[in-house]
Amino acid sequence: MKMAIIVLAALLLTLLSVGQSAPLTDCDSLTRRVEITGRDQLLGNWRHIGESSTVPVAPNMMKRFLETSWAQLTAADEPDSIIIKQLQKVFGRCFFLKAKATLMNSTLSFVSPFTIVEVFLTTSCPDCLVVSSNTTLGLTTYSGLQLLSRRDSVTPAELDEYRKQVKCLNLPDPVILNTERGYCLDDASVQDLTPAIHSGGTDVMAQMDELLKNKAAIEQLLQGVFNSLLPSQN
Ligand SMILES: *[C@@H]1O[C@H](CO)[C@@H](O)[C@H](O)[C@H]1NC(C)=O
Ligand SMILES: *[C@@H]1O[C@H](CO)[C@@H](O)[C@H](O)[C@H]1NC(C)=O
Repeated sequence: MKMAIIVLAALLLTLLSVGQSAPLTDCDSLTRRVEITGRDQLLGNWRHIGESSTVPVAPNMMKRFLETSWAQLTAADEPDSIIIKQLQKVFGRCFFLKAKATLMNSTLSFVSPFTIVEVFLTTSCPDCLVVSSNTTLGLTTYSGLQLLSRRDSVTPAELDEYRKQVKCLNLPDPVILNTERGYCLDDASVQDLTPAIHSGGTDVMAQMDELLKNKAAIEQLLQGVFNSLLPSQN
């Protein structure tokens, strides 16, 4: 009798697993890199769903200031290059930043305004990208893991898998953006922050790195900046 139950259970398991890809369970499989065969796979619009980063103040900044963020990826003139326009909503205002990246050997590299190296990790979400990155600011390299999707939001199971990937990489708890706050439209009202970021060159990056390490200073600075953008409240 016991034998029969075991055989039946094994049979059921076999039947259930037919046609399903094996669930990702351990850190080795959860952090496997995926190959990007060409830039077409990456082009189009991506919603920013979650972000984990070792930049000391990043989680707090995102929680307090960032409402939503999305990126528009278009082909650059060079065959392996991509133009990335990132649109962020901060206190109901929309800003964008543009940068060019090169795709080589399944790795996306930015040299300006920051040095960023990105690879893509496996995901069971059919229209997501899980982006593992190293960003160099001044002398420090910070790591991060981003979840992007073609959809405005993902399922709890997809989010859970991403959280596990973050844990596997020993990164800080991710910030999950509240995607119901609405995305910026890509129109003339969006303010371009690209020139401001580029104007100072590597010097500014080193200064920014120093600043990022000083949590209190940057929060005060940002609070000041955003207070000045907001209509005064009584
Ligand atoms: C391409 O990437 C793979 C794995 O990510 C690595 O093993 C290989 O050395 C890389 N090749 C080049 C030319 O960078
Ligand atoms: C980031 O740096 C770490 C440590 O050197 C390395 O293990 C990891 O593969 C790098 N990730 C990317 C996306 O280059």
